[in-house]
Amino acid sequence: MKRALITGITGQDGVYLARFLLDKGYAVYGTFRRLSTPNFWRLQYLDIFDRVTLIPADIIDSSSIVEAIEVSEPDEIYHLAAQSYVGASFEQPVGTGEITGLGVTRLLEAVRQLNPKIKVYQASTSELFGNSGRPRQDEETPFAPTSPYAAAKLYGYWMAKMYREAYGLFTCNGILFNHESPVRGLEFVTRKISNNVAKIALGLQDSFALGNVEAKRDWGYAPEYVESMWLMLQRDQPGDFVVSTGETHSVREFTEHALRIAGLDWDKHVRTDPRFLRPLEVNYLCGDCARAAQVLGWTPKVRFAKLVEIMVGEDLRRWKAFAEGERFPWDAPSYPTEATLLTRLLNSDGARAKRRELRAAAKTWATVRPSARTP
Ligand code: NAP
Ligand code: GDD
Repeated sequence: MKRALITGITGQDGVYLARFLLDKGYAVYGTFRRLSTPNFWRLQYLDIFDRVTLIPADIIDSSSIVEAIEVSEPDEIYHLAAQSYVGASFEQPVGTGEITGLGVTRLLEAVRQLNPKIKVYQASTSELFGNSGRPRQDEETPFAPTSPYAAAKLYGYWMAKMYREAYGLFTCNGILFNHESPVRGLEFVTRKISNNVAKIALGLQDSFALGNVEAKRDWGYAPEYVESMWLMLQRDQPGDFVVSTGETHSVREFTEHALRIAGLDWDKHVRTDPRFLRPLEVNYLCGDCARAAQVLGWTPKVRFAKLVEIMVGEDLRRWKAFAEGERFPWDAPSYPTEATLLTRLLNSDGARAKRRELRAAAKTWATVRPSARTP
């Protein structure tokens, strides 16, 4: 039985990759950070919490990485742990460098010293390209990072390549473009939109605010993208691969489609607020994954419109189910804004009437989007 260690198993990609590897028959180990409040909701949501072995480790602490490798004795390591939110990297540039950048070196050094035969996947990113000015970005496009996050990831990219060339380690950089899902963090724009549209559709809120709605991204579906990580490590030769859909859409288009699904109107429900603008922006990303298609046999299946439908559908289902008394693993109740709304909803004098309204709205929904539960 093959053994895999996933750093960052509690994140979006971590849980989908864990499920994918379990289905392939792997023994799956994953690292988690000690937090004052545990963060295992995604593992529970996919119903795999009991099927993986969790090891406490922080990527800024070398000794804990060594321990995780010694305990798990992996054939493959998927290094996903990172401070992954670009916006926060402007507020925490040093911390982002420590975790997202130097973390890669700590991991590679541990592999080099403990067992250089372990294959390593490094989570690189389309953010490396910055504002390249090219209509499509591929493995040959020059890098031009425009955030502390992207600069840290560029360092990680080069360290992975350098350990491959200097020490013969099997390291692969997956240059993944944005990929989303119902377990995406609420701070990322796609989930922020799907969550807010769901609340508005169910009459719980009137409007929400966004930053730069003209930014364009190449958005794919996370459960498909984790397969490309595994495919890279199954080859005889290590290499670097762009993984993308080859389609680009603006934040405005994503929002418009989400609103359309719910029968809502932009002018009534969406504002822009300069608080959500970044000091520097990546305006346009669109990937060319021809190499991944040719060498790995990987191609995307879920396209833009379907992705928006999956995300809006699942957030609608969650708000409705919670209001009706169902309890399930979900991130929203941990956020003060959402928790306040849920508490008010459940405790108000008109709660029963509200629940009736929600049920009625949900019935309408059932006829419009019957099968959106595709995590
Ligand atoms: P995510 O949901 O933010 O997950 C990040 C993971 O890293 C979480 O498990 C988090 O743990 C962990 N982590 C953060 N700081 C850590 C530390 N100091 N020590 C140990 N673990 C730490 O990110 P994701 O979307 O799954 O992305 C996975 C990786 O792919 C990241 O490296 C990201 O930068 C990269 N990437 C993502 C995309 C995308 O579109 N999703 C595209 C390209 C590249 P907690 O749960 O405790 O916070
Ligand atoms: N988060 C957020 N919130 N972004 C907004 C908002 C808002 O209210 N309004 C507009 N945007 C714009 C951002 O300025 C950015 O141009 C775009 O929406 C996408 O932002 P995010 O969803 O935060 O993702 P990202 O593209 O910055 O970064 C993600 O993708 C990278 C791959 O390209 C992250 O997953 C990174 O970890 C990943 O490397």
